[in-house]
Amino acid sequence: MNEKEQSIIESLINKVKNKFMGEGSGHDWYHIERVYNMSKKLAILEGVEDSFVLEAAALLHDIADHKFHNGDETMGPKVALDILKEFDLAEDRKQHIIQIIKEISFKGAGVPTPMSSKEGQLVQDADRLDAIGAIGIARTFAYGGHKNHPIYDPFIKPTCHTSFDAYKKSTAPTINHFYEKLLLLKDLMNSDSAKKIAEKRHSIMENFLQDFYAEWESRDF
Ligand code: ADP
Ligand code: NI
Repeated sequence: MNEKEQSIIESLINKVKNKFMGEGSGHDWYHIERVYNMSKKLAILEGVEDSFVLEAAALLHDIADHKFHNGDETMGPKVALDILKEFDLAEDRKQHIIQIIKEISFKGAGVPTPMSSKEGQLVQDADRLDAIGAIGIARTFAYGGHKNHPIYDPFIKPTCHTSFDAYKKSTAPTINHFYEKLLLLKDLMNSDSAKKIAEKRHSIMENFLQDFYAEWESRDF
């Protein structure tokens, strides 16, 4: 990456840090920072052509997520483009970053979410790695609380959402989110490096769920 690109990345870090510091639903600055760092690690392991695009997309991937804008999935790309307009940057690279932001989100168990570039695949993997494991568990309950969802209801069964709309509208208990998304992510990783990291994080969630049900049913003593 050249000096000019490096300075754009620094500006984006400052902007995103200011906007997301202290956010309370699991989409705080440290989530963005982990996705940014993991994207760079995956890029070293897997190789990418445009590391600037990868880094910028990681920093901007949740800039105006549909979850916080009444389900409007056009907001993220729009806000990201407005930010990128401030910089002297080739149009095709801006479009590449926007494309990644458009494609990255999980949209329901039955909805394919292919990424059209290697850079996008790795940022998606990094975002998904932060949704699983110990941190994934913490973020999921933070989000559930933020949305006022119950923790668990044994009478409400998980759903396999076949449309993004149905997935977005769900108000199901937070435990259901493990079956509707989190436990599926291990097999949806794009890169071999992310698949390996996902395995350990996946088993942390499986153990957590076993303990959760054991305590719920008083089988732990
Ligand atoms: P994506 O764009 O793929 O959904 P994000 O980085 O925006 O990824 O974060 C998604 C995270 O938000 C989930 O991994 C989870 O922690 C939380 N989340 C989203 N929907 C729910 C839900 N219905 N219940 C609990 N947590 C949720
Ligand atoms: Ni994210």
